[in-house]
Amino acid sequence: MASKSSLISKQRFLLKLITTFCFLQFLRCVYCSEFEVGERRGWVVPPANDTQMHNEWASKMRFKVGDTIRFKYKKDSVMEVNQKDYKECNSTRPNFFSNTGNTIYSLDRSGFFYFISGATGHCEKGQRMIVWVMAQDASHRTSHASNNAFFSYGLLVIIFAFQFIYLH
Ligand SMILES: *[C@@H]1O[C@H](CO)[C@@H](O)[C@H](O)[C@H]1NC(C)=O
Ligand SMILES: *[C@@H]1O[C@H](CO)[C@@H](O)[C@H](O)[C@H]1NC(C)=O
Repeated sequence: MASKSSLISKQRFLLKLITTFCFLQFLRCVYCSEFEVGERRGWVVPPANDTQMHNEWASKMRFKVGDTIRFKYKKDSVMEVNQKDYKECNSTRPNFFSNTGNTIYSLDRSGFFYFISGATGHCEKGQRMIVWVMAQDASHRTSHASNNAFFSYGLLVIIFAFQFIYLH
């Protein structure tokens, strides 16, 4: 009987740990932003006199790890490909593919991401985009500081959770 109740308390303990972990994950993203591609026009084939439209937009933005990009489109698709396939508009082996019309892509690392349209001929007409994600470096000290504050707060929550578990 004792072993059964200790099993239940272990399960409870695990549940609380998972809850705490999820809460921390939530805090981690308090400073994340979502960017919508193409502003009002969305993820579309650019007009003939503005073929660099998506890259111009992307170069004005400051993306950081954890941010997300939203692609809105109709009868089209979005792919994340390697640099070579980006240059050649080759859509045969994307790392990521979506055609739901409303795609949220998570920038989970620093460095370059290459996006192209998977619809025939669209990439060649300029529906492609390079995104550069900054590494969190010294120039982002302020956001670092507040992240750290949140992490210390998270640590307090964990300590509190542990005490709560041991007292029950
Ligand atoms: C492209 O053409 C449209 C209409 O002809 C015009 O309003 C727009 O300013 C032009 N864009 C560029 C970047 O030249
Ligand atoms: C795309 O890339 C694949 C793999 O490298 C290659 O076999 C194929 O010929 C390429 N397609 C085009 C249209 O370049």
